Amino acid sequence: MTTTGSTLNSRQRFLAALAGEPPDRPPLWIMRQAGRYLPEYRELKQQHGFLKMVKTPELATEVTLQPIRRFGFDAAILFSDILVIPEAMGQPYRFRDQGGIAMEFAIRSDNDIENLDTGSIRERLAYVPAALQLLRRELDGRTALLGFAGSPWTLATYMVEGGSSTHYEKIKELFYGDRPLFEKLMEKITAAVIEYYRMQVEAGADAVQLFDSWGGACAGGDYEEASLKWIRRILREIGGSVPVILYAKGLHHRINELADAGAAAVSVDWSADLGLLRRALANPVTLQGNLDPALLNTRPDIVRRQAEAILDAMKGYPGGHIFNLGHGIMPTAKIENVEALVDTVRGS
Ligand code: CP3
Repeated sequence: MTTTGSTLNSRQRFLAALAGEPPDRPPLWIMRQAGRYLPEYRELKQQHGFLKMVKTPELATEVTLQPIRRFGFDAAILFSDILVIPEAMGQPYRFRDQGGIAMEFAIRSDNDIENLDTGSIRERLAYVPAALQLLRRELDGRTALLGFAGSPWTLATYMVEGGSSTHYEKIKELFYGDRPLFEKLMEKITAAVIEYYRMQVEAGADAVQLFDSWGGACAGGDYEEASLKWIRRILREIGGSVPVILYAKGLHHRINELADAGAAAVSVDWSADLGLLRRALANPVTLQGNLDPALLNTRPDIVRRQAEAILDAMKGYPGGHIFNLGHGIMPTAKIENVEALVDTVRGS
């Protein structure tokens, strides 16, 4: 079914695509860590710092709205971070001066896992529903409001490696060397993510995204046990109450498993050829993606050409398409290129 688009506002357009009722043109928003390329974000961050902005509902609301004001995206994603979950369980994080994340300590033993506190999620993350409620009021039904969380595997990589990682040695040592302990950790993280999503739904999120950003690091035959199994559990628990967009990086060769896991949409990175992907799908699920973020460092004419190629590849796709980047926007993205992207997807 095709819904006529001219009468739809941004939120309705977004929800129609998510429900597999494609509007006349795909909704557009930009994924993750969206702040840094905007001068108004950098100014606010200089004044307050990242964590204070995340934890102060009025500031988180302001940062969430910045790209909406400038570009009129169809969906607004809450300004926060996936690492608020480990922090709420007792494992704080900071940004390294040279880039990447450093956790205050790494999870290494049964005792470390025992000490993770899943009972205080609601209390310690109360600033998240507070920000979502403010945003819901500000957006007033015009723009879709998205919550999010990291997948248990992706969160576990930070928690066990002690920060950003290249080779994921320590989490793999745990996964292969002590499966019961790995599962004990994953049970705790999964429970925390489910509780966190419930809070976001109660506070009025229209949909939530689940970031399996580092699922592609798993050995192919072990992806189910290491990551997808836990994602399935989350989708079973909350998929009935809110549409979930599953972002999986480096995993588009598993598109049918991802599509069947119970998410409303699957979001893929730029390495997927959407024309091939839609043909590989047994059942058309809403697809989100997948412009290469590096293109936003180039020129408006290049962005237009590449965005048009994606629109062409997805034309007439019955499952619905949400236009997005294949991963988070880079701090070096040029604003004129984001504008060219918006114009191209809007057909102007
Ligand atoms: O669009 C948005 O700003 C929404 C909020 C959002 C942020 N992070 C804010 C942020 C979202 C949805 C995320 C998700 C996130 N955070 C993921 C999953 C998505 C992905 O990228 O795969 C992951 C893995 C993280 C963890 C994280 N936080 C990383 C790897 C980094 C970058 C560190 C670095 O040095 O480059 C962050 C920082 C972060 N999160 C920033 C923002 C705006 C940048 C902070 C800054 O420098 O101002």
